[in-house]
Amino acid sequence: MPDIDLTKEASYFREKISKEKTITLDFGYLTGVVESWWNKNNHQETHILKTQLVNLFLTYLRAEDTFYFDKVGLANGCAAVCIKNVFSLDSPKLALTVHEALADLFHLTDIKYEYEEHKALYLKPFAEKYREWGNGHGDITPHSDDLYENLNVDYLALTVCRDITKTPTAYYFPCDLLCDLNDEEMHELLTMQATFISGKNVSGLKKRVRHVVKFSELYGFNFSLDFRIDSENGERMRATDGGQHVLDKIRAGLPNARCHVSTAETGTFLIVANHKILHARPMLNIDASEAREQAHTSTFNTTPRLLFRSKGPRKHYFPLDETTYTREAH
Ligand SMILES: [Fe+2]
Repeated sequence: MPDIDLTKEASYFREKISKEKTITLDFGYLTGVVESWWNKNNHQETHILKTQLVNLFLTYLRAEDTFYFDKVGLANGCAAVCIKNVFSLDSPKLALTVHEALADLFHLTDIKYEYEEHKALYLKPFAEKYREWGNGHGDITPHSDDLYENLNVDYLALTVCRDITKTPTAYYFPCDLLCDLNDEEMHELLTMQATFISGKNVSGLKKRVRHVVKFSELYGFNFSLDFRIDSENGERMRATDGGQHVLDKIRAGLPNARCHVSTAETGTFLIVANHKILHARPMLNIDASEAREQAHTSTFNTTPRLLFRSKGPRKHYFPLDETTYTREAH
């Protein structure tokens, strides 16, 4: 009977996605080591500093703190890692160096699109016109990044240099968004496709059709969900061929959905598996006229909120296996 299959399918799915977890680490025992290294070496080039810092982390981090470097996004790993107290000095150059070193250690390959200044997130001029934008001040609805791109963005990482507005990144597990779906709706979600469109950060309109849920043994269930609404182009995600009512039902539950927050403290590094967690931002704790003022005058050293960001595919390492090379390959 199909009903029984649907029930089994839905309960397997629910059980698997309810096991997704976030790891929080505290590098507080290394803050002093990082900062004394920084004070001696900060005159050097950024790429040299990054290499030195990667080595410092590999030398001084405890085994339990390096364990998750290659586990983010795996079926038996974790969906996100939040690391606190990597540093406490408010220095954009230190924050960027730490960010790049940790992004490397987590095997994140950062991708720069020519149409997007993606690295630094802070209040920029015209922020008040584009509220729902990383460089604006408005709240940002739960989404995964860059679903309209051809490339798959496996990871998103953010490092807090400064945030006097105390606005942490919020993140949502799909199991907390899908808990009100019945078995039939779960089945629709598991089989449906949606069209994803680009927003303010891209000039022109980019589109991609994807399955909303994908499964693989290695990575488990991966999701493509984006509930943002673009002021010009409308919903960033539309069902391609049926299933829109399921997306609408999830959207209706968003205001009351359980979510988690990172910390807004200087020295926090957060990496999320882009297809296992949706991220969001509450409205910045700063009033509109202040935001406007700051956007026109702020620099890296004065902006009230400065985060560094990387996003892109996971770096793959291939084993050296001679049996896969043929004689013809000489
Ligand atoms: Fe985002």
